[in-house]
Amino acid sequence: MTDMDNYPFNNAVSMAHMLLLPYVPQAGVLIDMTCGNGHDTAFLASLMNKDAMLYAFDIQACAIKATQNILAKQNICTEHIIFCQGSHDDLVSHVDRPIDIVLFNLGYLPSGDHGIHTKSEITIKAIKICLNKIAKNGIIMIAAYPGTDSGAREEQAVCKFLEQLPQKEFHSSSWRPVNQIHYPPLLYIVQKRG
Ligand SMILES: C[S@@+](CC[C@H](N)C(=O)[O-])C[C@H]1O[C@@H](n2cnc3c(N)ncnc32)[C@H](O)[C@@H]1O
Repeated sequence: MTDMDNYPFNNAVSMAHMLLLPYVPQAGVLIDMTCGNGHDTAFLASLMNKDAMLYAFDIQACAIKATQNILAKQNICTEHIIFCQGSHDDLVSHVDRPIDIVLFNLGYLPSGDHGIHTKSEITIKAIKICLNKIAKNGIIMIAAYPGTDSGAREEQAVCKFLEQLPQKEFHSSSWRPVNQIHYPPLLYIVQKRG
């Protein structure tokens, strides 16, 4: 397997990782808003600067545990990672430094209780808080899953909200597959202008 196999252009999450590659090593504060099974946290932690701080949030205790397990398995040092269980809208409001990178991977834990999923209202609230705390040139990535009714409502709400961000303050864009069957995940990208 080459490095290129790790980054196929077919998936919102791998697109997010690819786009973040040059930014992660330069970031001082990073947040995984939904750490789930830990893949995104592991991606950020494996590339971040040794002096950076990474927060891993999830509403479920089992997700925090799964994330800690994957990091241990990959021998990733957790000294600069803060794990917090709770709702990300609440947790992010306590971060008191400008944030360089925020990653939302919405929806539910594939291997867990599908009834526990991100919800439009809370997601928008959390995004708003992040927009107020994001550093200049900082980036917010949001992978959204329109394949379920609630996921579709959430994706629409996120899209509608991000469409009206002031162009003078933020670059707001999206990426979506155009030849995939069903309802593939989409990626939204916001960057605070410098
Ligand atoms: C698609 S999974 C995340 C996948 C994960 N990033 C990974 O790499 O494996 C979505 C996660 O969002 C979490 N979640 C749902 N609502 C949340 C909330 N209000 N605050 C924080 N996490 C939440 C779920 O518990 C679930 O683990």
